[in-house]
Amino acid sequence: MPDSRVPRLRRFLVCEPRHFAVQYSINPWMHPDTPVDVDLAREQWQALIRAYRDHGHTVETVEPVAALPDMVFAANCALVLGGRVLGSLFHAPERRPESTAYDAWFEGAGYEVHRAESVCEGEGDLVPAGRFLLAGTGFRTTREAHRQAQEFFGVPVISLQLVDPRFYHMDTALFVLDDGEDGNIAYYPEAFSPGSRAVLARLYPDAVIATREDALAFGLNSVSDGRHVFISSRAKELADQLDRQGYVPVPLDLSEFQKAGGGIKCCTQELRP
Ligand code: ARG
Repeated sequence: MPDSRVPRLRRFLVCEPRHFAVQYSINPWMHPDTPVDVDLAREQWQALIRAYRDHGHTVETVEPVAALPDMVFAANCALVLGGRVLGSLFHAPERRPESTAYDAWFEGAGYEVHRAESVCEGEGDLVPAGRFLLAGTGFRTTREAHRQAQEFFGVPVISLQLVDPRFYHMDTALFVLDDGEDGNIAYYPEAFSPGSRAVLARLYPDAVIATREDALAFGLNSVSDGRHVFISSRAKELADQLDRQGYVPVPLDLSEFQKAGGGIKCCTQELRP
């Protein structure tokens, strides 16, 4: 099995953490009193970008804006699927101005941005998984936004209820290992309501199940190209499980970003053709 895992080359949009900081608190990870090592953050982010490029992926960058410290979390700005862009409507007033900068990038790149009409935080909660669009709600993205996403993309949306504030975005508790028709996922069941857990178990009987420890180490905030899994270096058990299933873990440490409640996937917006 190991050598049958074939990577699909991706195109990513990222934002350099030039103005990254923890200045306000909009999730339980954020403590403005805890110092962030900005030089280390920049090195960690550069190592991530290097790893993507070394594995053949294309990386585009949007210019960071001063006074928008969370703009580095590019995953939240939109969902791009089939070349169509559903632009976010951020929950926190502090993050709303990010949309102006991201919209300008998308328009400059030839995309037309359709704005979400209800709170919607892009790939933070909307996760394309083969034939379905998995959609989290509970803390940020609303069910109304799920409905709009289904209508806009024409992909069946599976709404999933998040219940633990530490896993306030679905991409902190679940990621897609391979997004073919019969693709698979990895997730942390306790982040979801009992009904949503049952839905995931029914759709993905062979899913990789993470421990709480690995989930809290942002192990599920990973990016997979179908073969390589760019994963938090602290999620050791999960990396071992993936290795046994024929994936190739690429461990990276994004400790500084965890202080803002983010990890590898949060820093990465995928531009799906
Ligand atoms: N501080 C940011 C927020 O709370 C972190 C966003 C993390 N992004 C993600 N895709 N989970 O909005």
